[in-house]
Amino acid sequence: MIEKINQYKGIVLAGGEGTRLHPLTKVISKQLLPVYDMPMIFYPLKTLIKAGIKEILLITTEKQQNNYMNLLGKGEDFGIAIDYIVQNKPDGIAQAFDISREWLSTSPCVLILGDNLFLGGNVSELLVASMNKNRGSTIFGYKVKDSSRYGVVTLDKNNQVIGIEEKPKIPKSNWAVTGLYVYDNNVIDYVKDLKPSKRGELEITDLNNIYIKKNELDINFIDENSYWLDAGTKDSLLEASIIVENLKKKNIDLF
Ligand code: G1P
Repeated sequence: MIEKINQYKGIVLAGGEGTRLHPLTKVISKQLLPVYDMPMIFYPLKTLIKAGIKEILLITTEKQQNNYMNLLGKGEDFGIAIDYIVQNKPDGIAQAFDISREWLSTSPCVLILGDNLFLGGNVSELLVASMNKNRGSTIFGYKVKDSSRYGVVTLDKNNQVIGIEEKPKIPKSNWAVTGLYVYDNNVIDYVKDLKPSKRGELEITDLNNIYIKKNELDINFIDENSYWLDAGTKDSLLEASIIVENLKKKNIDLF
């Protein structure tokens, strides 16, 4: 079991211009903004570290790379090794695998979005269990009121995923696809089949739909004691700080 987990590498995607948060993000990357008492990027990093991942690739814009290097160095403070690579244009989440192909080599991987916070619940256990499975891919669903802002799963009567739609006007479920994904090493081949979407991006949802067609995608449902936030809007950024403050005051583990 432990051997399988040790093969995993982690990717944190912290590219993008953060335009929805202007002027906060005019000079500083969204994922470096504070969430209560830590820069946002610490949260996804700690989610991966808690799951035992020791080698992490941080994908940033060229403009911001130095800031991340100054903050995180080679990862020694976290007991891990951090490498850096640039995503020149925000051409989609799935592009992370084009960019990281050589770095990943033959390893399976966990991808986490730099603005996704998983707080106070069972996510690390679910992540470790999915990594141990070591086949195909795993996504993590979170029940939300307004799922049309996210990737949304369509489930069959056995709660298996039969499709994912990206930001559908009329969502087929309340289960949003969170920005945490486990993939076997086939991901670096499957990504080659993707074409840019209408918004001009290589969509993570299209990549996941390839796995679904091959019958190789599982879903884990995050429990109701956990918080998931995509902290990319002004409201969710504030909400994230309030949740962290509350959890800390109640002495509840964040990760
Ligand atoms: C992206 C994905 C979407 C997912 C979301 C999670 O959306 O495309 O499927 O639900 O992250 O944060 P974006 O933030 O690019 O709009």
